[in-house]
Amino acid sequence: MGEDDRSLLAYLRERGVSRRTFLKFCGAITATLALPASYAPRVAAALSAAPRIPVVWLEGQDCAGNTEGFLRASHPTVAELVFDTISVNYHETIMAPAGRAAEKSLSDTVAAYPGQYIAIVEGAVPVAEGGTYCLIGGRTFRSIVEEVCNNALLTITVGSCAFDGGLPAANGGPTGATGVSSIVPRAKVVNLPGCPMNVQNLTATIVHYLTFGSLPATDSLGRPYFAYGQLVHDQCERRAHFDAGEYVQAWGDEGSRKGWCLYKMGCKGPETFANCPTVRFNDRTSWPVKAGHGCVGCTMPRFWDQMSPFYRRLSNPPGFAVDVTADQIGLGLVGVVTALSVAHGTISYVRGRSADGHEPEGELEAAVLVEAGPPAAEPVTSPPDPAGSEEGS
Ligand code: SF4
Ligand code: F3S
Repeated sequence: MGEDDRSLLAYLRERGVSRRTFLKFCGAITATLALPASYAPRVAAALSAAPRIPVVWLEGQDCAGNTEGFLRASHPTVAELVFDTISVNYHETIMAPAGRAAEKSLSDTVAAYPGQYIAIVEGAVPVAEGGTYCLIGGRTFRSIVEEVCNNALLTITVGSCAFDGGLPAANGGPTGATGVSSIVPRAKVVNLPGCPMNVQNLTATIVHYLTFGSLPATDSLGRPYFAYGQLVHDQCERRAHFDAGEYVQAWGDEGSRKGWCLYKMGCKGPETFANCPTVRFNDRTSWPVKAGHGCVGCTMPRFWDQMSPFYRRLSNPPGFAVDVTADQIGLGLVGVVTALSVAHGTISYVRGRSADGHEPEGELEAAVLVEAGPPAAEPVTSPPDPAGSEEGS
C-alpha cells in the first residue's frame, strides 16, 4: 500500500480504528458486493486513495427513515471510512446551516462540481397540482430533483419512496407521488429500495464506485444484483422449516416459539428479492424474520398495494404465472423460484465476476479478514409436505 494508505491508517489510528478493523470492513463490504474475497485488497487500496467526492442528500416526501438508518450505522467504519471519504455537502436533517444558508450549500455544490457529485435522494416526488405538495425553499421538490440529478455524476435513490413513490403513491394517495427515475429518465440512477434501505447496501454501492469507477450491475428496475439478486426465501434461516412443512399457524403458538416458517402468517420472502437475511440490519444483528415477523416485501415495486394484506399470503404473487397461486408455490416452489432466479440474472453474477467484468486479482486473501454473513439456505430438491401448506391464517 502506498503513501495515501499510510495517511489513511494514521488518520484511522487517531480515531482508534486499527488496520485489522479496516481490513475487516473491506472484507465485509466485498462479501456484501458478492465479490470474491480476493477483491478485498483492491477495495482497501481504492478506499485509501479515493478522492473526496461531494455528496448532496435530498429529502422529499419521506419519513427520514433512511436518514435514521444512515445515522444509526454505529459501526465506526461505515461512517468514518466511507462517509469521511466522501463529503456530504448538503443534507437537510444533519447539516448545521439552515434556511437560505442551507440552500446556498446546495446551489454552490451543484454549480462548483457539475457532473462530479453524487446525489442521494430519499422520498417520493409529488407531481400532482404542479408539485405543490412538497416545496423546499419555495421550489417544488420536482424541480430540485431535476436540477440536482440531471447534473450529478450519479444518483442513488434510498428507500421505497424514492424508488417508485412508496407509501405516498399507494392507492388513495392524492399527491401524484412517483419515483426519481421517472422524473429524470436520462440521469444515471441506481435504486436501493426498502423501508428503509439497508445502509450496508448504500455503503457497498459507493465503495463499488470508488473501487471500479462504475456502478454495480443492476436489474431492469435499477436495483443492484448484489443486494437484490436473490430471493429472501432462498437465504432465510427458517427455510429448512418451510421445506419440512413446519409453519407458524398463529402468533405465539408452539411453532412461533420454535422459530418455524412464517409463510402461513403472510411472509412474502418467496416473492421478494433482497439480501436482508445475510446482510441484516443494525450491524448485522437481526432482520424481520429473525425478529419473528414475516417479510412484507418492502423492496418490491408498489409493495404497499401489491404485497398487502401483510399478514395473509398473496393469491397471485407478482412475478409468477397468473394461474399459479401462493398455495401452489408452497407445494412446488423450488422449480418456479429457480426459474425466476435464473431469469433475474443472479447466478451468473454471483459466480465471481464483478459488474465491470474484471476477474479477481492475485492471491491476497490472506491479507484480508473476510467477515462472511450466515450461509444461505441450500436449494431443496423436493417440495414441502402438502399437508403443511393448507391455509392456516
Ligand atoms: Fe423464511 Fe418467510 Fe421463506 Fe418461511 S416463507 S422460509 S419465514 S422467507
Ligand atoms: Fe423488507 Fe422483507 Fe427485508 S420486509 S427489510 S425485504 S426481510
